[in-house]
Amino acid sequence: MTTDTIVILDFGSQYTQLITRIVREQSTYSLQLPWSATAETISEIQPAGIILSGGPASIYSQNAPKFPTFLLSLGIPMLGICYGMQAMADALEGEITASTAREFGYTQLITEQQNPLIPTGAHQVWMSHGDQITKLPDGFSRLATTENTPLAAMGDLNRQLFGVQFHPEVKHTSIGTEIIRNFLFHICNIRASWTPASIIEESVSQIKNEIGNSRVLSAVSGGVDSSVATALVHKAVGNQLDAVFVDTGLLRKNEVRDVKAALQENLQINLITVPAANLFFQDLKGISDPEEKRSRIGNRFIRIFEEEARNLGTPDYLVQGTIYPDVVVSAAPDRPESETIKTHHNVGGLPENMSFSLIEPLRYLFKDEVRKIGEELGLPHSLVWRQPFPGPGLAIRCLGEVTSDRVDRLREADSIFLQELEKENLLHYTKEGVVRGSSQAFAVLLPVKAVGVMGDQRTYEDVIALRAVTTDDFMTADWARFPSEILARISNRIVNEVKGINRVVYDITSKPPGTIEWE
Ligand code: XMP
Repeated sequence: MTTDTIVILDFGSQYTQLITRIVREQSTYSLQLPWSATAETISEIQPAGIILSGGPASIYSQNAPKFPTFLLSLGIPMLGICYGMQAMADALEGEITASTAREFGYTQLITEQQNPLIPTGAHQVWMSHGDQITKLPDGFSRLATTENTPLAAMGDLNRQLFGVQFHPEVKHTSIGTEIIRNFLFHICNIRASWTPASIIEESVSQIKNEIGNSRVLSAVSGGVDSSVATALVHKAVGNQLDAVFVDTGLLRKNEVRDVKAALQENLQINLITVPAANLFFQDLKGISDPEEKRSRIGNRFIRIFEEEARNLGTPDYLVQGTIYPDVVVSAAPDRPESETIKTHHNVGGLPENMSFSLIEPLRYLFKDEVRKIGEELGLPHSLVWRQPFPGPGLAIRCLGEVTSDRVDRLREADSIFLQELEKENLLHYTKEGVVRGSSQAFAVLLPVKAVGVMGDQRTYEDVIALRAVTTDDFMTADWARFPSEILARISNRIVNEVKGINRVVYDITSKPPGTIEWE
């Protein structure tokens, strides 16, 4: 990287990723590494500063992670947060005392002396710790104090080493961002130059260097990550790239058209669309088991992709939309060392026995950063900010057997649901990444029939369930509270406009105990 980099050393805190993100929000590149990262790894990065995260351990407990003392020889500024501060103090021969009770929650911090890190005055900060420092190491002075924690912040202004017992990375700390900015811009003297434009420029030059004159292949799914990765590689190597988009017959309404418009017409990417719906429906004939559906779809996808790759003379490189959360694994103390850096070969169902070299241009980016790059590259807003869609597509939302007829019915109902939410602004993320209304919304076709009455006729037809959730991370989720008038309108439209559906239900299950998808 030619940009200034801050290394975040992870001591296992649940907030480490927040530190990485808050630094990046200041247009500064940050890279998260386990606390045990080697001297060579860190020297190679040539960081402008280091932040040590908090962690669940107690410094005097067995196997507690220790401050890597080789860091001192780098002569760069460091900021220890919570356990990171204690580890630094311990290594420099300060004293840490175990306390019997944890201090958790808001507290008032009083700044003791003017310093480059913490603004003067009284501030609300967020604490979460058991142990605390009871004697400062030589060369350090006390910067701030709270009622329960006399040594709540420390600094050695000569060596530019700092520590705070509270958590500036959580939004409950009112001056948190200001502290991080002070560290970056007044202590590390960083230039805030990490922007979507600079990221693209740097990636493009790296990709060009790596690929040279070789040919590259990309599998496009219609999702944000694969589209942005493809567009970025195309910007670097133009027509050396071929993109393959498999029309499985299990995509949403107009999805094939929209992806083609975005990549082929708008960006002039050589996009090969493979119409393969018949093959997928043949494979799924008579299959109701969700895992069997997934496995058959995955296998068929691989075979089609292999054939296309062969037709294209088996290019040397393969583009993957792997993103940072797939790569970075938190250094939780209960995790074996070997797992702490996981190289993620996210081949997402792609052939493992083909000898491609992988190009992963989004490997160090978070989802919202990927979206910003997508916008900057000229991808349409609707593609860049779209909600996630599972690889096996509508097959796992068509409960029971997956037939072309049933998928058509589901696709129509799904489209009405999404259209109405879109009209009410309840579907997409805003440009700032804030979810409006729902993080993911879709229709599910149930494998049961219900009795109804239409005109004077008894009907016996299919049931649609509507599923919409709000969530930050898709690990837990709550069902979306849409106004009942909107749900009523959606239900009316589905029953009136989709032949074969006579009943609509709304799923009010959170995750857990439910999952977001039904299969
Ligand atoms: P669940 O249903 O596990 O879903 O709560 C969490 C998130 O994962 C997506 N999902 C999948 N994505 N292949 C995918 O690519 C799959 O087989 C799959 N199953 C679930 C789901 O849409 C949600 O965003």
